[in-house]
Amino acid sequence: MTEQFDEQMRVESLGSSAFHHVPVMCSEVLDVLMEAPAGVILDATVGGGGHAEAVLTARPDLTVLGLDRDDAALAATAERLAPFGDRVVLHRSAFGDLSTALDAVGVNRISGFLFDLGVSSPQLDQADRGFSYREAGPLDMRMDRRQELTAAAVVNEYDEADLARVLRWYADERHARRIARTVVAARPVTDTAQLAELVRDAIPAPARRRGGHPAKRTFQAIRIEVNGELDQLAGAIDEAIRRLVPSGRGAVLSYHSGEDRIVKHQFDRAATGGCSCPPRLPCACGAQPTVVMARRAGWTPGDDEATVNPRAVSARLRTVERVERQLETP
Ligand SMILES: C[S@@+](CC[C@H](N)C(=O)[O-])C[C@H]1O[C@@H](n2cnc3c(N)ncnc32)[C@H](O)[C@@H]1O
Repeated sequence: MTEQFDEQMRVESLGSSAFHHVPVMCSEVLDVLMEAPAGVILDATVGGGGHAEAVLTARPDLTVLGLDRDDAALAATAERLAPFGDRVVLHRSAFGDLSTALDAVGVNRISGFLFDLGVSSPQLDQADRGFSYREAGPLDMRMDRRQELTAAAVVNEYDEADLARVLRWYADERHARRIARTVVAARPVTDTAQLAELVRDAIPAPARRRGGHPAKRTFQAIRIEVNGELDQLAGAIDEAIRRLVPSGRGAVLSYHSGEDRIVKHQFDRAATGGCSCPPRLPCACGAQPTVVMARRAGWTPGDDEATVNPRAVSARLRTVERVERQLETP
């Protein structure tokens, strides 16, 4: 196995057995990728390697290029996928730099891709990563710990209006202004436990009793802001589609409406070629679809999976197939 992520970086000694993440909708993802032509599958968010392992096991004629921007995830995955030898290449990169990452490892065309968005269970569970509202930890939330922006900067340095905007945009938080006002008044906020407490206090009592932990949406929004999660998605999906071979398959698993809106829009655009002709009239604008979408509404997990894996509850899977036509050279 070629491990192309930077060995000089701090790689936590977190073995694959300690990195426990149950892959979401694994059999549905596998059904899609089983139809891909032989070649390279891009796992743009390889995480703990659960989906990648399932693909490598099911299809001996496929190799996997796994990207992630989290060094701890890549270290654990390298161990887990070691039995597959040189059928696996791991590379540390944000999928926002997809083109550069593919070029760096010498991959031009791909047979399929998977984006499994958001955070992994270990990222959420390890208090020192600062993603969890349930335990005290530093205000960090960086997937890539080399980056400068942390949750501490968002919480302690953004002005009140900006903080409220983050909470509204990335989590549809109805009490965004109240939370932002409370947080700004309490500065400096020193850890995740204090932030969770401030959010709880800012939300009116009746609303606190609905919809899970009162700080859940605030933590989601700050995490998305820190990691620029939505900014990279549209361009990365376009680039992955562009690199697909004819009949190649693509799958994206999203976990909230902000992500899913972007996935749906990019897939729609690829499936219509951006056609601007009036509906029900033949296309006269020359738009060229590059994919067909498997099912407009996508798929959600069955009740059985949602019961045993809470992470799956909000998942939506959307898939495409690259149409058979000559591709433009990248
Ligand atoms: C839900 S987990 C993936 C789990 C994986 N499918 C598995 O079976 O173990 C999402 C992973 O994507 C990574 N990630 C999120 N945004 C990313 C981005 N923009 N670029 C690269 N990796 C990203 C996270 O660090 C995390 O490890």
